[in-house]
Amino acid sequence: MALIEVKNLSVQFQTPDGLVTAVNDISFSLNRGQTLGIVGESGSGKSQTVLAMMGLLASNGRATGQAMFDGQDLLALPPKDLNRVRGNRVAMIFQDPMTSLNPYLTVERQMTEVLELHKGMTRQQARLRSVQALDAVKIPEAARRLTMYPHEFSGGMRQRVMIAMALLCEPDVLIADEPTTALDVTVQAQIIALMRDLQRDFGTAIVMITHDLGVVAGLCDEVMVLYGGRVMEHGSAESIFYQPTHPYTVGLLGAVPRIEQGGHALVAIPGAPPNMARLPPGCPFSERCTLADSRCVSERPALSPVVDRRGLLRACHQTPTDVALHAREVRV
Ligand SMILES: Nc1ncnc2c1ncn2[C@@H]1O[C@H](COP(=O)(O)OP(=O)(O)O)[C@@H](O)[C@H]1O
Ligand SMILES: [Mg+2]
Repeated sequence: MALIEVKNLSVQFQTPDGLVTAVNDISFSLNRGQTLGIVGESGSGKSQTVLAMMGLLASNGRATGQAMFDGQDLLALPPKDLNRVRGNRVAMIFQDPMTSLNPYLTVERQMTEVLELHKGMTRQQARLRSVQALDAVKIPEAARRLTMYPHEFSGGMRQRVMIAMALLCEPDVLIADEPTTALDVTVQAQIIALMRDLQRDFGTAIVMITHDLGVVAGLCDEVMVLYGGRVMEHGSAESIFYQPTHPYTVGLLGAVPRIEQGGHALVAIPGAPPNMARLPPGCPFSERCTLADSRCVSERPALSPVVDRRGLLRACHQTPTDVALHAREVRV
């Protein structure tokens, strides 16, 4: 059985413009030790998908569907029980470490408190375990650093502290929402490598959210591409990278800096993400898609399996062959 099984998850917000469906009928599952990448431009519904699972939606938001974890539906769990799961068995890290670190308390105080609360450790045991945790995320001189305040760490080191905090209780699942977006490329690569090591050593399942397909390369087993709150394409990382079948995935790949071009050549997809309050009736990407025809504009393509491509799902009216031809044109 999968560790996490999300079924038909939707998130709606009550807004002055009416009801906005930020996440529309998303399903996925995650096994122990597996990494799922959730990718899409800003506003595509990535964060709301996982915030809904964690019971952390804004007060004007409502989630429907199911998010099964260990036999219980997270969406139906009373706040008290959800609190026990959160931070303990399912941990989350964010782009800004200061959303999870308290600036007024030393790292030691914050880490030992978690262990005393969730694991019933003594202060002594908790301190020892905290040093190990900082060691595990490769923070030099962990015992000394433990006594410091968050602001005394550099950006990359602070991100490591947050990861160490998230991993303190040895969670089954780590949800990382753009954890490297604010960091420079070198530090970003270090953090990704660190997450890969941690996964190998502890078998933690990871949900990695990013707007940059480059970040999920080499880390993720599976990738789900979101646009306008819907799944455009969902399949193995190899499939998404080397044989994309959705024009939006092709566009995102074009925006990944490539080494052979000196790490440049960021070709952003022309146009802007849609206004979620006024989505077109057909494919949400149709307004920006160079392959779109009248059917794409008027009729929404269903997410369906691709023949001869095991486990691959796509929502597109164009044939995979036509998309592949298009991909070749834009990638050369
Ligand atoms: N509190 C809110 N009220 C109304 N709409 C919201 C709220 N939070 C998010 N949204 C809508 O949800 C969409 C998806 O947001 P989000 O999941 O945060 O995107 P991202 O993919 O960048 O993480 C946003 O574009 C916005 O339209
Ligand atoms: Mg987000």
